[in-house]
Amino acid sequence: MRTQVAIIGGGPAGLLLAQLLHNHGIETVVLERRTRDYVLSRIRAGVLETGFTDLMREAGVGERLDREGIVHDGAKLAYQGGTFRIDFERLTGRHVTVYGQTEVTRDLYQARDAASLPTLHGCSGVKPRDIDTGSPFITFLHGGKMNRLDCDFIAGCDGFHGPSRQAIPEKARTEHEKTYPFGWLGILSETPPVDDELIYANSPRGFALCSMRNPNLSRYYVQCALSDSPEDWPDDKVWDELKRRVPEEVAERLVTGPSIEKSIAPLRSFVCAPMRWGRLFLCGDAAHIVPPTGAKGLNTAASDVHYLYRALVRHYHDRDDDGLERYSDTALARIWKTQRFSWWMTNLLHRFPDQSGFDLHVQQAELAVLSENEAAQTALAESYVGLPY
Ligand code: APR
Ligand code: PHB
Repeated sequence: MRTQVAIIGGGPAGLLLAQLLHNHGIETVVLERRTRDYVLSRIRAGVLETGFTDLMREAGVGERLDREGIVHDGAKLAYQGGTFRIDFERLTGRHVTVYGQTEVTRDLYQARDAASLPTLHGCSGVKPRDIDTGSPFITFLHGGKMNRLDCDFIAGCDGFHGPSRQAIPEKARTEHEKTYPFGWLGILSETPPVDDELIYANSPRGFALCSMRNPNLSRYYVQCALSDSPEDWPDDKVWDELKRRVPEEVAERLVTGPSIEKSIAPLRSFVCAPMRWGRLFLCGDAAHIVPPTGAKGLNTAASDVHYLYRALVRHYHDRDDDGLERYSDTALARIWKTQRFSWWMTNLLHRFPDQSGFDLHVQQAELAVLSENEAAQTALAESYVGLPY
């Protein structure tokens, strides 16, 4: 088998990159470990920056997003029993769109199928080879036999646990990691959202987030201990805790119901440099992870895709490799800005076990400044709607 760009990983990063390259006549093959259903069963965040929605439209897969996505001109922060609003539209002229990652992935798979583009599910033992030569290839098990895919380039879009990052020699990799002493318990419920915008709450009992997927599908999160499991959080306890962590006027209008999904995710910041090694380019979670507080995971995968796809188009159409040479530095420059924002939002909104009285006062003062200072609100809004690519 041979292709121009071999893509490991059929998640949002891999599929969006593949669609954009296809639209410029560049051949791709996507190698995905899981089944299509498994990939589409993942529940992930759903707040898209304007850069992401523009990229989806550029890829020709923005139609359902434009029809069903919910435009949010602002978001609310809650602390000390009250809420205040960050008006994205007024402060930045831009907004975010609420549209689940599952739907993004579904739209991208449908576009790939419509173009009859090769996507192999159930691949195992995927291994990038000869990435430091001009003739890289991938070996993998599929259909009960060992396969080889020769290519010009490999895009490692295989998430945090995939093989691509490990294909960069360990001595050449610099990895930065920060773990947080808590997790997020998340539930989905077929109930109307408590508000028409997101509410991020800092409370003495810990963080809570009120989000949504559509007018009858709500997404809620509460900060929980890393030692917790979903079994420790029966629905009644989730709803009770959520009501205790949001202002009273929000709790009073909260519509509860049975959870249709419940999971716990730890919070972590991670960056791997470089994001390129020879003909291998890392994209998305394969290279970096952010805590979900700033809703930047999917959006940072999109900015990587933006840089890589344009660099590959310049290579194939203009025989110009400047974009490929600068990919890692360009992507990392923006990644660190989103890491900073995600770290800052996490420190702003969570209660830390080792938080001193001083730390707590500084945190509450930060929220107070945000509640009354337009410049501070604008800085938050600029990062939330998405820094320029
Ligand atoms: N071989 C083939 N595919 C693999 C392998 C492997 N060895 N390991 C992982 N994969 C696949 C996974 O099954 C997954 O479908 O790679 C894909 C990676 O997708 P994501 O983990 O969704 O990462 P990415 O596409 O970068 O999107 C980032 O997804 O996880 C969220 O929070 C994250 O919102 C962010 C977004
Ligand atoms: C979500 O809706 O899942 C969501 C929204 C905003 C975040 C994180 C998750 O910051």
